[in-house]
Amino acid sequence: MAAGNTPENRSSQYTLQNDESSTSAARSYDDQGPAVKEEPLVVERVPWSVIAQEFTEIWGRHDPQDPQPEHTEVIGINGSGKTLWMCKAVQERMLSRHTACIILQSKPADETIMQLGWPIVTNGDVKRALKERWCVYWPLTNATGNERKRYQADMFKRLLDALWRPNANTIVVLDDVGYIQGLHTSRGEPLNPDIEMYLREGRSSGITCLLVKQRPQGAKREMHSETYWTIAFAPKDEDDQERFAQLFGNRKQFQPIFAQMNSEKHEFLIKYHRSGLAVISWIDTPLRPLARPKPNVKSRS
Ligand SMILES: Nc1ncnc2c1ncn2[C@@H]1O[C@H](COP(=O)(O)OP(=O)(O)OP(=O)(O)O)[C@@H](O)[C@H]1O
Ligand SMILES: [Mg+2]
Repeated sequence: MAAGNTPENRSSQYTLQNDESSTSAARSYDDQGPAVKEEPLVVERVPWSVIAQEFTEIWGRHDPQDPQPEHTEVIGINGSGKTLWMCKAVQERMLSRHTACIILQSKPADETIMQLGWPIVTNGDVKRALKERWCVYWPLTNATGNERKRYQADMFKRLLDALWRPNANTIVVLDDVGYIQGLHTSRGEPLNPDIEMYLREGRSSGITCLLVKQRPQGAKREMHSETYWTIAFAPKDEDDQERFAQLFGNRKQFQPIFAQMNSEKHEFLIKYHRSGLAVISWIDTPLRPLARPKPNVKSRS
């Protein structure tokens, strides 16, 4: 990717990385872009299988000489395809860069995540979760209501505390971050300050936060400002279109894009905030369990 501007590389380097040869339409996605701002946007449609490789290469490697984690936010209503996108993205990182990943899961059941085939740690065993390197950390209990929430909070806190160390070099997925943020431990401590700390300071320990959520307004503003990639599925009504469009920088430009997206096809808009470029995509290959690398394999940052 370092040599991304050579003609040979241009065809594989699709549309997300900054590229001076881009058309004016493609370049007008930039938040601070000058004169082209009010022109209608033309956003390409590209199946995920075509751009997945490029995404995996540039995610956190804007400057390959100095790789820095890039927090990522995935937004969409129930059943839009958020967890499927997340699973594909972390699976690719596992295969091509051996980046460790722990998925914090809180739902009672989730068919999509099961298809990833990663071990599931249900008893809060943090040591095991770290040793596996690729796993779903999914504390389960028979308790209900607030007792269940406190149990989940205790287990998540335990993991977040253990992961907080120099060179953690891990992707931390918070699936339904809005729910996790609202939890309090049995000692009454809110989890939100830990999550804010992960977002603000995690990058220096090599931590990439991948936030999955249903609504943009559920999370604090700070969350968006720390995010380098936004993936948003078709919103369900005009109000949501407006809120989603705001996350992409220029509301007027992005609202019509959201209005034309096909939710039946599980289309999403992905934007790289460093380059200002965006495309519409959809997952076009099935999620299958793939062998994990050996736990002691070195990751490529
Ligand atoms: N591109 C796609 N092609 C075919 N099926 C898809 C696609 N995207 C998602 N689905 C299917 O839609 C269903 C919901 O997907 P997923 O679990 O990823 O949604 P979600 O946004 O995480 O939902 P929730 O908010 O309930 O967690 C799953 O059965 C999934 O396989
Ligand atoms: Mg989901």
